[in-house]
Amino acid sequence: MTELKYDVKDLGLASEGIRRIEWSQKEMPVLGQIHKRFIKEKPLSGMRIGACLHVTTETAYLAKILKDGGAEVAMCASNPLSTQDDVAAALVSEYEIPTFSIRGEDNNTYYQHLSEICDFEPNMTMDDGADMVAMIHQERTSLIDNIIGGSEETTTGIIRLRSLASQNKLMYPVIAVNDADTKHLFDNRYGTGQSTLDGITRATNILWAGKTVVVAGYGWCGKGIAQRADGMGSHVIVTEVDPVRALEAVMDGYRVMKMEDAAKIGDVFITVTGGMNAVGIDAIKNLKSGAIIANSGHFNVEIDIESLEKESDSSKQILNSVKQYTLYDGRQIFLLGEGRLINLAAAEGHPSGVMDLSFAGQALAAEFIKNNNSQLSNSVHSLPTELDKEIARLKLQGMSVDIDILSEEQEKYLNSWDIGT
Ligand code: ADE
Repeated sequence: MTELKYDVKDLGLASEGIRRIEWSQKEMPVLGQIHKRFIKEKPLSGMRIGACLHVTTETAYLAKILKDGGAEVAMCASNPLSTQDDVAAALVSEYEIPTFSIRGEDNNTYYQHLSEICDFEPNMTMDDGADMVAMIHQERTSLIDNIIGGSEETTTGIIRLRSLASQNKLMYPVIAVNDADTKHLFDNRYGTGQSTLDGITRATNILWAGKTVVVAGYGWCGKGIAQRADGMGSHVIVTEVDPVRALEAVMDGYRVMKMEDAAKIGDVFITVTGGMNAVGIDAIKNLKSGAIIANSGHFNVEIDIESLEKESDSSKQILNSVKQYTLYDGRQIFLLGEGRLINLAAAEGHPSGVMDLSFAGQALAAEFIKNNNSQLSNSVHSLPTELDKEIARLKLQGMSVDIDILSEEQEKYLNSWDIGT
Protein backbone atom coordinates (compact mmCIF):
# COMPACT_ATOMS: atom_id res chain seq x y z
CA MET A 1 0.00 0.00 0.00
CA THR A 2 1.31 3.49 -0.88
CA GLU A 3 2.02 5.78 2.02
CA LEU A 4 -0.92 7.98 3.00
CA LYS A 5 -0.37 11.65 2.17
CA TYR A 6 -1.68 14.25 4.61
CA ASP A 7 -1.14 17.63 6.19
CA VAL A 8 -2.85 18.02 9.55
CA LYS A 9 -1.88 19.84 12.74
CA ASP A 10 -1.05 16.94 15.04
CA LEU A 11 -1.81 13.23 14.67
CA GLY A 12 -1.62 12.99 18.46
CA LEU A 13 -5.07 14.61 18.61
CA ALA A 14 -6.70 11.63 16.86
CA SER A 15 -8.07 9.85 19.93
CA GLU A 16 -10.07 12.93 20.98
CA GLY A 17 -11.31 13.23 17.38
CA ILE A 18 -12.46 9.60 17.34
CA ARG A 19 -14.37 10.03 20.62
CA ARG A 20 -16.14 13.11 19.30
CA ILE A 21 -16.92 11.55 15.90
CA GLU A 22 -18.45 8.52 17.63
CA TRP A 23 -20.50 10.78 19.89
CA SER A 24 -21.87 12.75 16.93
CA GLN A 25 -22.98 9.53 15.21
CA LYS A 26 -25.61 9.03 17.91
CA GLU A 27 -27.52 12.00 16.46
CA MET A 28 -27.25 10.79 12.87
CA PRO A 29 -29.67 7.90 12.34
CA VAL A 30 -30.24 8.63 8.65
CA LEU A 31 -26.54 8.40 7.90
CA GLY A 32 -26.47 5.29 10.10
CA GLN A 33 -29.01 3.58 7.81
CA ILE A 34 -27.19 4.68 4.67
CA HIS A 35 -23.93 3.47 6.19
CA LYS A 36 -25.32 -0.03 6.77
CA ARG A 37 -26.55 -0.23 3.17
CA PHE A 38 -23.32 1.17 1.71
CA ILE A 39 -21.24 -1.42 3.62
CA LYS A 40 -23.36 -4.18 2.07
CA GLU A 41 -23.83 -2.86 -1.44
CA LYS A 42 -20.59 -0.89 -2.06
CA PRO A 43 -22.44 1.45 -4.45
CA LEU A 44 -19.47 3.79 -4.81
CA SER A 45 -16.82 1.31 -5.87
CA GLY A 46 -14.55 2.80 -8.50
CA MET A 47 -15.20 6.35 -7.34
CA ARG A 48 -12.39 8.69 -6.28
CA ILE A 49 -14.11 11.45 -4.37
CA GLY A 50 -12.26 14.72 -3.80
CA ALA A 51 -14.10 16.41 -0.92
CA CYS A 52 -13.67 20.06 0.02
CA LEU A 53 -15.87 20.39 3.13
CA HIS A 54 -15.69 21.81 6.63
CA VAL A 55 -13.63 19.21 8.47
CA THR A 56 -15.89 18.43 11.43
CA THR A 57 -17.05 15.32 13.27
CA GLU A 58 -20.07 15.04 10.97
CA THR A 59 -17.94 15.36 7.85
CA ALA A 60 -15.65 12.63 9.14
CA TYR A 61 -18.61 10.28 9.47
CA LEU A 62 -19.69 11.13 5.91
CA ALA A 63 -16.16 10.43 4.65
CA LYS A 64 -16.16 7.07 6.42
CA ILE A 65 -19.52 6.16 4.87
CA LEU A 66 -18.30 7.06 1.38
CA LYS A 67 -15.17 4.97 1.94
CA ASP A 68 -17.12 2.01 3.35
CA GLY A 69 -19.38 2.40 0.31
CA GLY A 70 -16.41 1.53 -1.89
CA ALA A 71 -15.02 4.98 -2.77
CA GLU A 72 -11.52 6.29 -2.29
CA VAL A 73 -11.80 9.65 -0.57
CA ALA A 74 -9.43 12.58 -0.09
CA MET A 75 -10.41 15.58 2.01
CA CYS A 76 -9.46 19.23 2.40
CA ALA A 77 -11.10 22.11 4.25
CA SER A 78 -13.60 24.44 2.59
CA ASN A 79 -12.65 27.32 4.88
CA PRO A 80 -9.32 28.17 6.55
CA LEU A 81 -10.92 28.57 9.97
CA SER A 82 -13.44 25.72 10.15
CA THR A 83 -11.23 22.65 10.62
CA GLN A 84 -11.43 20.68 13.85
CA ASP A 85 -7.80 19.55 14.15
CA ASP A 86 -8.61 16.47 16.23
CA VAL A 87 -11.02 15.32 13.52
CA ALA A 88 -8.46 15.92 10.76
CA ALA A 89 -6.01 13.78 12.76
CA ALA A 90 -8.61 11.01 13.21
CA LEU A 91 -9.41 11.03 9.48
CA VAL A 92 -5.78 10.27 8.75
CA SER A 93 -4.87 7.83 11.49
CA GLU A 94 -8.17 6.05 12.12
CA TYR A 95 -9.94 6.14 8.75
CA GLU A 96 -6.83 6.30 6.52
CA ILE A 97 -8.28 9.13 4.49
CA PRO A 98 -5.72 11.54 2.99
CA THR A 99 -6.61 14.83 4.68
CA PHE A 100 -5.16 18.28 4.14
CA SER A 101 -6.52 20.82 6.57
CA ILE A 102 -5.23 22.80 9.52
CA ARG A 103 -7.35 25.21 11.51
CA GLY A 104 -6.08 28.77 10.93
CA GLU A 105 -4.11 27.90 7.79
CA ASP A 106 -3.22 30.94 5.67
CA ASN A 107 -4.69 31.46 2.21
CA ASN A 108 -1.65 29.98 0.44
CA THR A 109 -1.82 26.80 2.50
CA TYR A 110 -5.59 26.65 1.95
CA TYR A 111 -5.11 26.65 -1.83
CA GLN A 112 -2.10 24.31 -1.58
CA HIS A 113 -4.40 21.86 0.23
CA LEU A 114 -7.04 22.16 -2.51
CA SER A 115 -4.31 21.48 -5.01
CA GLU A 116 -3.39 18.27 -3.14
CA ILE A 117 -6.94 17.05 -3.70
CA CYS A 118 -6.55 17.79 -7.41
CA ASP A 119 -3.30 15.76 -7.37
CA PHE A 120 -5.38 12.86 -6.01
CA GLU A 121 -7.16 12.99 -9.41
CA PRO A 122 -10.78 12.70 -8.27
CA ASN A 123 -13.45 11.44 -10.64
CA MET A 124 -16.15 13.03 -8.46
CA THR A 125 -16.06 16.27 -6.44
CA MET A 126 -17.92 17.22 -3.29
CA ASP A 127 -17.80 20.92 -2.46
CA ASP A 128 -19.02 23.36 0.15
CA GLY A 129 -18.65 26.76 -1.51
CA ALA A 130 -17.45 25.56 -4.95
CA ASP A 131 -13.74 26.27 -4.42
CA MET A 132 -12.82 22.81 -5.74
CA VAL A 133 -14.95 23.18 -8.87
CA ALA A 134 -13.47 26.66 -9.38
CA MET A 135 -9.87 25.41 -9.09
CA ILE A 136 -10.54 22.52 -11.47
CA HIS A 137 -12.22 24.79 -14.04
CA GLN A 138 -9.53 27.48 -13.79
CA GLU A 139 -6.24 25.72 -13.17
CA ARG A 140 -6.62 21.96 -13.39
CA THR A 141 -8.71 21.50 -16.52
CA SER A 142 -6.84 18.31 -17.46
CA LEU A 143 -8.80 16.55 -14.69
CA ILE A 144 -12.18 17.32 -16.23
CA ASP A 145 -12.33 14.44 -18.75
CA ASN A 146 -12.26 11.91 -15.90
CA ILE A 147 -14.78 13.64 -13.64
CA ILE A 148 -18.28 12.21 -13.94
CA GLY A 149 -19.96 14.74 -11.64
CA GLY A 150 -19.96 16.60 -8.38
CA SER A 151 -22.16 17.81 -5.56
CA GLU A 152 -22.45 21.16 -3.80
CA GLU A 153 -23.51 21.75 -0.23
CA THR A 154 -24.24 25.43 0.13
CA THR A 155 -26.23 28.36 -1.25
CA THR A 156 -23.12 30.39 -2.09
CA GLY A 157 -21.55 27.49 -3.97
CA ILE A 158 -24.70 27.02 -6.02
CA ILE A 159 -24.77 30.72 -6.94
CA ARG A 160 -21.20 30.32 -8.27
CA LEU A 161 -22.05 27.12 -10.15
CA ARG A 162 -25.16 28.64 -11.76
CA SER A 163 -23.03 31.57 -12.89
CA LEU A 164 -20.51 29.13 -14.44
CA ALA A 165 -23.32 27.12 -16.06
CA SER A 166 -25.01 30.26 -17.43
CA GLN A 167 -21.82 30.97 -19.38
CA ASN A 168 -21.82 27.34 -20.62
CA LYS A 169 -18.54 26.82 -18.82
CA LEU A 170 -19.55 24.18 -16.29
CA MET A 171 -17.86 21.06 -17.61
CA TYR A 172 -19.58 18.33 -15.61
CA PRO A 173 -22.97 17.83 -13.88
CA VAL A 174 -23.32 18.98 -10.30
CA ILE A 175 -26.07 18.09 -7.84
CA ALA A 176 -27.22 21.08 -5.77
CA VAL A 177 -27.68 19.30 -2.44
CA ASN A 178 -28.62 22.65 -0.88
CA ASP A 179 -31.76 22.80 -3.03
CA ALA A 180 -33.19 19.63 -1.48
CA ASP A 181 -35.97 20.41 1.00
CA THR A 182 -34.31 18.16 3.57
CA LYS A 183 -31.22 20.37 3.29
CA HIS A 184 -32.10 24.07 3.21
CA LEU A 185 -35.32 23.89 5.27
CA PHE A 186 -33.38 22.31 8.14
CA ASP A 187 -29.62 22.91 7.86
CA ASN A 188 -29.94 26.54 6.75
CA ARG A 189 -32.81 27.38 9.08
CA TYR A 190 -32.36 25.34 12.27
CA GLY A 191 -28.66 24.56 11.80
CA THR A 192 -27.49 28.09 11.04
CA GLY A 193 -30.06 29.51 13.44
CA GLN A 194 -28.68 27.55 16.39
CA SER A 195 -24.99 27.41 15.49
CA THR A 196 -24.68 31.12 14.73
CA LEU A 197 -25.99 32.11 18.14
CA ASP A 198 -23.81 29.37 19.62
CA GLY A 199 -20.70 30.79 17.89
CA ILE A 200 -21.40 34.36 18.98
CA THR A 201 -22.18 33.21 22.52
CA ARG A 202 -18.98 31.18 22.78
CA ALA A 203 -16.96 34.08 21.34
CA THR A 204 -18.43 36.78 23.61
CA ASN A 205 -20.76 35.26 26.25
CA ILE A 206 -23.19 38.15 25.63
CA LEU A 207 -26.70 38.15 27.04
CA TRP A 208 -29.07 38.03 24.07
CA ALA A 209 -32.13 39.18 26.01
CA GLY A 210 -32.76 42.84 25.36
CA LYS A 211 -30.14 43.21 22.61
CA THR A 212 -31.03 44.73 19.26
CA VAL A 213 -29.87 42.16 16.73
CA VAL A 214 -29.61 43.13 13.06
CA VAL A 215 -29.84 40.19 10.65
CA ALA A 216 -28.68 41.05 7.12
CA GLY A 217 -30.36 38.68 4.66
CA TYR A 218 -33.66 36.86 5.11
CA GLY A 219 -33.07 33.64 3.22
CA TRP A 220 -33.42 30.37 5.15
CA CYS A 221 -30.30 31.12 7.21
CA GLY A 222 -31.50 34.62 8.07
CA LYS A 223 -34.95 33.27 8.97
CA GLY A 224 -33.38 30.75 11.35
CA ILE A 225 -31.12 33.29 13.01
CA ALA A 226 -33.94 35.84 13.40
CA GLN A 227 -36.20 33.17 14.92
CA ARG A 228 -33.59 32.01 17.42
CA ALA A 229 -32.50 35.54 18.40
CA ASP A 230 -36.17 36.42 18.90
CA GLY A 231 -36.56 33.33 21.08
CA MET A 232 -33.66 34.51 23.24
CA GLY A 233 -35.42 37.83 23.87
CA SER A 234 -33.56 40.01 21.36
CA HIS A 235 -35.22 42.78 19.37
CA VAL A 236 -34.68 41.64 15.79
CA ILE A 237 -34.23 43.96 12.82
CA VAL A 238 -33.93 42.50 9.32
CA THR A 239 -32.27 44.17 6.33
CA GLU A 240 -32.94 42.86 2.83
CA VAL A 241 -32.65 43.81 -0.85
CA ASP A 242 -35.35 41.43 -2.06
CA PRO A 243 -38.85 42.88 -1.65
CA VAL A 244 -40.58 39.50 -1.17
CA ARG A 245 -38.18 38.42 1.53
CA ALA A 246 -38.41 41.84 3.18
CA LEU A 247 -42.20 41.49 3.20
CA GLU A 248 -41.94 38.02 4.72
CA ALA A 249 -39.74 39.45 7.48
CA VAL A 250 -42.26 42.23 8.16
CA MET A 251 -45.11 39.71 8.39
CA ASP A 252 -43.02 37.39 10.55
CA GLY A 253 -43.07 40.26 13.01
CA TYR A 254 -39.64 41.83 12.59
CA ARG A 255 -38.69 45.43 11.92
CA VAL A 256 -37.28 45.89 8.44
CA MET A 257 -35.19 48.90 7.48
CA LYS A 258 -32.15 50.00 5.51
CA MET A 259 -28.79 48.92 6.89
CA GLU A 260 -27.65 52.54 7.28
CA ASP A 261 -30.59 53.09 9.67
CA ALA A 262 -30.19 49.76 11.46
CA ALA A 263 -26.49 50.55 11.91
CA LYS A 264 -27.37 53.39 14.29
CA ILE A 265 -29.37 51.21 16.69
CA GLY A 266 -28.03 47.66 16.44
CA ASP A 267 -26.01 45.99 19.20
CA VAL A 268 -25.16 42.82 17.25
CA PHE A 269 -24.94 42.50 13.46
CA ILE A 270 -25.07 39.14 11.72
CA THR A 271 -24.59 38.87 7.96
CA VAL A 272 -26.06 35.98 5.97
CA THR A 273 -26.65 37.47 2.54
CA GLY A 274 -24.35 35.33 0.37
CA GLY A 275 -23.21 38.62 -1.15
CA MET A 276 -20.56 41.17 -0.24
CA ASN A 277 -20.30 44.27 1.97
CA ALA A 278 -23.67 43.81 3.68
CA VAL A 279 -22.01 45.75 6.50
CA GLY A 280 -20.23 48.26 4.30
CA ILE A 281 -18.57 51.59 4.84
CA ASP A 282 -21.87 53.51 5.26
CA ALA A 283 -22.93 51.16 8.02
CA ILE A 284 -19.51 51.26 9.66
CA LYS A 285 -19.69 55.07 9.79
CA ASN A 286 -22.99 54.83 11.68
CA LEU A 287 -22.33 51.95 14.10
CA LYS A 288 -22.74 52.61 17.81
CA SER A 289 -19.66 52.25 19.93
CA GLY A 290 -19.63 48.69 21.30
CA ALA A 291 -21.34 47.15 18.27
CA ILE A 292 -20.50 43.51 17.61
CA ILE A 293 -20.31 42.32 14.00
CA ALA A 294 -20.25 38.70 12.87
CA ASN A 295 -20.74 36.86 9.62
CA SER A 296 -22.42 33.49 9.13
CA GLY A 297 -22.42 33.49 5.31
CA HIS A 298 -19.98 31.24 3.48
CA PHE A 299 -17.28 33.76 2.52
CA ASN A 300 -15.58 36.46 4.57
CA VAL A 301 -16.67 39.26 2.23
CA GLU A 302 -20.01 40.14 3.83
CA ILE A 303 -18.38 42.60 6.23
CA ASP A 304 -16.18 45.24 4.62
CA ILE A 305 -13.18 44.55 6.84
CA GLU A 306 -10.86 46.62 4.65
CA SER A 307 -12.96 49.75 5.28
CA LEU A 308 -13.22 48.91 8.98
CA GLU A 309 -9.42 48.80 9.08
CA LYS A 310 -9.10 52.07 7.17
CA GLU A 311 -11.46 53.80 9.61
CA SER A 312 -9.51 52.47 12.60
CA ASP A 313 -6.78 54.14 14.54
CA SER A 314 -5.80 50.81 16.12
CA SER A 315 -6.94 47.25 16.53
CA LYS A 316 -6.14 44.35 18.81
CA GLN A 317 -7.24 40.78 19.35
CA ILE A 318 -8.82 40.95 22.80
CA LEU A 319 -10.28 37.43 23.00
CA ASN A 320 -9.77 34.29 20.88
CA SER A 321 -12.49 35.23 18.41
CA VAL A 322 -12.93 38.94 19.17
CA LYS A 323 -10.92 41.72 17.55
CA GLN A 324 -11.42 45.24 18.88
CA TYR A 325 -11.20 48.12 16.41
CA THR A 326 -10.83 51.64 17.82
CA LEU A 327 -11.97 54.09 15.17
CA TYR A 328 -10.49 57.57 14.69
CA ASP A 329 -13.57 59.10 16.33
CA GLY A 330 -13.08 56.90 19.41
CA ARG A 331 -15.88 54.36 18.80
CA GLN A 332 -15.02 50.74 19.51
CA ILE A 333 -16.29 48.03 17.16
CA PHE A 334 -15.85 44.31 17.79
CA LEU A 335 -15.36 41.96 14.84
CA LEU A 336 -15.84 38.24 15.52
CA GLY A 337 -13.92 35.36 13.94
CA GLU A 338 -12.14 37.50 11.34
CA GLY A 339 -15.48 37.88 9.57
CA ARG A 340 -15.45 34.17 8.68
CA LEU A 341 -18.48 31.99 9.32
CA ILE A 342 -18.82 32.41 13.05
CA ASN A 343 -20.60 29.11 13.70
CA LEU A 344 -17.51 27.18 12.61
CA ALA A 345 -14.88 29.77 13.57
CA ALA A 346 -16.01 30.04 17.20
CA ALA A 347 -18.16 26.93 17.70
CA GLU A 348 -18.58 23.46 16.20
CA GLY A 349 -20.81 24.31 13.26
CA HIS A 350 -24.30 22.91 12.91
CA PRO A 351 -25.36 20.19 15.34
CA SER A 352 -25.02 16.61 14.13
CA GLY A 353 -28.79 16.13 14.19
CA VAL A 354 -29.18 18.49 11.26
CA MET A 355 -25.98 17.52 9.41
CA ASP A 356 -27.53 14.03 9.38
CA LEU A 357 -29.98 15.35 6.77
CA SER A 358 -27.51 17.44 4.77
CA PHE A 359 -24.92 14.69 4.53
CA ALA A 360 -27.52 12.04 3.75
CA GLY A 361 -28.17 14.26 0.72
CA GLN A 362 -24.44 14.25 -0.10
CA ALA A 363 -24.11 10.46 0.21
CA LEU A 364 -27.19 9.82 -1.92
CA ALA A 365 -26.09 12.45 -4.45
CA ALA A 366 -22.77 10.60 -4.86
CA GLU A 367 -24.63 7.34 -5.49
CA PHE A 368 -27.04 9.08 -7.89
CA ILE A 369 -24.20 10.59 -9.92
CA LYS A 370 -22.41 7.26 -10.10
CA ASN A 371 -25.55 5.58 -11.46
CA ASN A 372 -26.93 8.34 -13.67
CA ASN A 373 -24.08 10.53 -14.86
CA SER A 374 -24.44 9.52 -18.51
CA GLN A 375 -27.96 11.03 -18.56
CA LEU A 376 -27.01 14.27 -16.81
CA SER A 377 -26.13 17.43 -18.73
CA ASN A 378 -23.26 19.68 -17.65
CA SER A 379 -25.46 21.86 -15.49
CA VAL A 380 -26.75 22.21 -11.93
CA HIS A 381 -29.28 19.49 -11.03
CA SER A 382 -31.60 18.91 -8.10
CA LEU A 383 -31.51 15.83 -5.95
CA PRO A 384 -34.50 13.72 -7.12
CA THR A 385 -37.60 14.28 -4.97
CA GLU A 386 -37.86 10.56 -4.08
CA LEU A 387 -34.43 10.75 -2.44
CA ASP A 388 -35.37 13.95 -0.60
CA LYS A 389 -38.53 12.27 0.72
CA GLU A 390 -36.61 9.11 1.64
CA ILE A 391 -34.23 11.19 3.77
CA ALA A 392 -37.18 12.77 5.59
CA ARG A 393 -38.80 9.35 6.08
CA LEU A 394 -35.63 7.90 7.58
CA LYS A 395 -35.21 10.90 9.87
CA LEU A 396 -38.79 10.58 11.15
CA GLN A 397 -38.16 6.88 11.72
CA GLY A 398 -35.00 7.75 13.67
CA MET A 399 -37.06 10.16 15.79
CA SER A 400 -39.84 7.54 16.30
CA VAL A 401 -42.41 9.80 14.66
CA ASP A 402 -45.25 8.11 12.74
CA ILE A 403 -47.21 9.92 10.07
CA ASP A 404 -50.44 9.18 8.24
CA ILE A 405 -50.78 7.44 4.89
CA LEU A 406 -53.41 8.53 2.34
CA SER A 407 -56.30 6.10 1.92
CA GLU A 408 -57.11 4.98 -1.63
CA GLU A 409 -60.11 7.29 -1.59
CA GLN A 410 -58.03 10.28 -0.48
CA GLU A 411 -55.37 9.54 -3.08
CA LYS A 412 -58.01 9.31 -5.80
CA TYR A 413 -59.49 12.65 -4.71
CA LEU A 414 -56.11 14.37 -4.79
CA ASN A 415 -55.43 13.06 -8.29
CA SER A 416 -58.82 14.05 -9.68
CA TRP A 417 -60.00 17.29 -11.26
CA ASP A 418 -63.72 16.55 -11.62
CA ILE A 419 -64.83 16.34 -7.97
CA GLY A 420 -65.74 19.87 -6.86
CA THR A 421 -68.10 21.21 -4.19
N1 ADE B 1 -21.50 23.41 7.91
C1 ADE B 1 -22.09 23.94 8.98
N2 ADE B 1 -21.95 23.15 10.05
C2 ADE B 1 -21.24 22.08 9.66
C3 ADE B 1 -20.80 20.91 10.30
N3 ADE B 1 -21.04 20.68 11.59
N4 ADE B 1 -20.10 20.03 9.58
C4 ADE B 1 -19.85 20.26 8.28
N5 ADE B 1 -20.25 21.32 7.60
C5 ADE B 1 -20.95 22.23 8.29
